[in-house]
Amino acid sequence: MSNDAPAKIGLVTVSDRASRGEYEDRGGPAMKACLAEFLSTPFEALSRIVPDEQPLIEAVLKELTLQGCSLIVTTGGTGPARRDVTVEATEAVCQKMMPGFGELMRQVSLEKVPTAILSRQEAGIHFPEEGPGALIVNLPGSPKAIRECLIAVFPAIPYCVDLIEGPYLETNEDVVVAFRPKKK
Ligand code: MTE
Repeated sequence: MSNDAPAKIGLVTVSDRASRGEYEDRGGPAMKACLAEFLSTPFEALSRIVPDEQPLIEAVLKELTLQGCSLIVTTGGTGPARRDVTVEATEAVCQKMMPGFGELMRQVSLEKVPTAILSRQEAGIHFPEEGPGALIVNLPGSPKAIRECLIAVFPAIPYCVDLIEGPYLETNEDVVVAFRPKKK
């Protein structure tokens, strides 16, 4: 898929307190700042804030896919607490899980903090009944963790989005170099 419209990217903050307005959403702006730093392709961010309720998270992931987001990043709800259900919601809507993303994000995070092992973050592909799929990538809630995790996996994201018929994403190569295998 290639056209002049900006690529749509979903940004989902999963937090009871941010959804009630009890505190400012810092995760959504942090994800948007990373994407603006990493991508040279113009993009339109579709931002959502949802409480830690699995059915509501699933609904927003499906809604953003139907809106045309081929990449959706979530923040929060990846830990061990009872209400941390972002990973369960992601697994419920994805037909294919992409375990390498979670493995790599935990590996790089463990070099920063020992508690990185507490994040169950995953990635997977949600295919709607018709149209392109969406790559969903879970990030922890901490704004610092968002960049640490996203920069590690980002080199593989544009090619993954190609494979699910999303827009052709290009990166700012001084920050992240997208890897695409050479065409045969
Ligand atoms: N990963 C990175 N890179 N940096 C961090 O500070 N915090 C960890 C972990 N992953 C962290 C990290 C902590 S303390 C927790 S509890 C888990 O992410 C889950 O966070 P979440 O429930 O907000 O998603």
